[in-house]
Amino acid sequence: MVNLVKTGIEGLDSILYGGIPEFNQIVLAGGPGSGKTLLSFEFLYRNAKMGNPGVFFALEETSKKVIENAKSAFSNFDDIDELIDKGLITINSEDPSVHIQQSEGSSSYEFGKVLSDIESTVSSAKANRVVIDSISLLGLLVNDPLAYRRSMLALVSNLRRLGVTSILTAELRTPERDKLVFKPEFFIFDGIIVMYQVGKEEKRKLAMEVIKMRGNNHSFVTTPYEITPKGFKIYAAESQSDFSY
Ligand SMILES: Nc1ncnc2c1ncn2[C@@H]1O[C@H](COP(=O)(O)OP(=O)(O)OP(=O)(O)O)[C@@H](O)[C@H]1O
Ligand SMILES: [Mg+2]
Repeated sequence: MVNLVKTGIEGLDSILYGGIPEFNQIVLAGGPGSGKTLLSFEFLYRNAKMGNPGVFFALEETSKKVIENAKSAFSNFDDIDELIDKGLITINSEDPSVHIQQSEGSSSYEFGKVLSDIESTVSSAKANRVVIDSISLLGLLVNDPLAYRRSMLALVSNLRRLGVTSILTAELRTPERDKLVFKPEFFIFDGIIVMYQVGKEEKRKLAMEVIKMRGNNHSFVTTPYEITPKGFKIYAAESQSDFSY
């Protein structure tokens, strides 16, 4: 029997038929502003409240900004600071560009340094939940696509070895469902969830879909969601009749 890690997010565990299989390393891909950072933050927040420590690696924003944005979007979460103080949520912001070494006009990215930083932070926080926001940024710093795939493979196997369950965010070029193209590196991950816009112009709505999840069956339905002060609200099957697009 696979042990399922509850995300604790309203509606998400139902479309995941219970949760994310433990030790899965999944990618959450979405267009700009689709809510990738906030959803992955809420995953850590809900898990922290269940007593599972998590680490958030912010590669695109400072830790301060991540916390500020989360507090502003989720105004009902009044215990974020308390969870951080207790060590149940650790936010580690890191600017990957500090790892680029310039040598004779070419840049090489010390990916190993990032992996060891992740490992030491996860160990000292005794975390079993991890978020990396985003892996797309790491991709910008590796010159060729093959090197990037190799780096992603190393990242995934490191996280598996650490015994964590993770959400790694990735950017999708298009926010539209019909134009979705999956990059080859996505196939390395144990699961893929996408967030995108459906419908035309004024009828545009946000929706998510589980594309794959190794180890567990899941809904294949495109499911609308909203970001509310109480957290994400994912309109799983029973309430879908409220939506038309
Ligand atoms: N205070 C708020 N109240 C309600 N919704 C908010 C609030 N702040 C942000 N949002 C919503 O959340 C979205 C941004 O969420 P988030 O930063 O998680 O997106 P993202 O996918 O990580 O974006 P990016 O591609 O820029 O990294 C906004 O586009 C907006 O729809
Ligand atoms: Mg983001």
